[in-house]
Amino acid sequence: MIGRLQDRVAIITGAGSVGPGWGNGKATAVRFAEEGSKIFATDINPEAAAETKKLITDAGGTCVTHTADITKTEDVKALVGACMDEFGRIDILHNNVGGSMPGGPADMPEDVWQGQIDHNLTHIYLMCRYVLPIMEEQGKGVIINMSSTSGIRYSGHPHTAYAATKAAIIQFSRSVAIQYAKKGIRCNSILPGLMHTPMVEARLAGHRAGGDVDKIVADRNAAIPMGWAGDGRDTANAALFLASDEARFITATEIIVDGGRSAASPY
Ligand SMILES: NC(=O)c1ccc[n+]([C@@H]2O[C@H](COP(=O)([O-])OP(=O)(O)OC[C@H]3O[C@@H](n4cnc5c(N)ncnc54)[C@H](O)[C@@H]3O)[C@@H](O)[C@H]2O)c1
Repeated sequence: MIGRLQDRVAIITGAGSVGPGWGNGKATAVRFAEEGSKIFATDINPEAAAETKKLITDAGGTCVTHTADITKTEDVKALVGACMDEFGRIDILHNNVGGSMPGGPADMPEDVWQGQIDHNLTHIYLMCRYVLPIMEEQGKGVIINMSSTSGIRYSGHPHTAYAATKAAIIQFSRSVAIQYAKKGIRCNSILPGLMHTPMVEARLAGHRAGGDVDKIVADRNAAIPMGWAGDGRDTANAALFLASDEARFITATEIIVDGGRSAASPY
């Protein structure tokens, strides 16, 4: 059977997961591979990327891993070069890396603020800077950027730098989409809401609930109209649609994956 992404080459950044379960990047790498895509899985943590690769290759798919800190220009240049050496083209760029640190302007130190800008936003600029000329030469390409509903709504917690970067990703994506619309390149963003990904256990429970995972999961579920939280597989399916030809007329827009929360009142 021919997959929906048959033989397309996809770079996934943050293709591992910070713990057991389905992080967004890991789930997207596996889902794309199930549809025939060749995966260039890049992560700062080689073990995390290797785990994703094993899932893909055990199922008969193709995956190459590459270790990079994508906040660093030299690492981004090297990873794009390594993908071209390996596969000779880049059809899909899925910019997945990101994460939040708590705080508002008065209590967030400058280095944490700058770290949030680099971790959530600058790497998307860097990846696009080095991948767009390749896609332009190919006359074809798809870019998907991971934003968040925190970019359009107050999350209930002062994670101001995260909110600002995730809002910026939406408009960055629209701007790139229009600039490259006649060049065969589409660019969209995905806005996940409260997802039960491994970062809930790895980071968020510590930041928000004194390490009480059951409490934070219950609180988050109660805030979602559907009453439960999706996981990385739900964002992966949205990404698959945007990456596929089924979305050929869809660019400069966003898909919200949040069980209805951003439309609910009170939020
Ligand atoms: N999980 C959620 O509830 C949620 C909600 C909304 C948006 N998002 C967004 O989804 C994306 C993925 O989130 P997640 O929670 O699945 O990710 P995660 O925290 O599980 O991290 C995924 C991978 O990114 C890697 N990584 C971290 N920094 C890196 C760097 N500098 N260079 C290369 N790799 C790096 C990690 O090693 C990890 O394997 C983020 O952009 C996040 O903001 C997540």
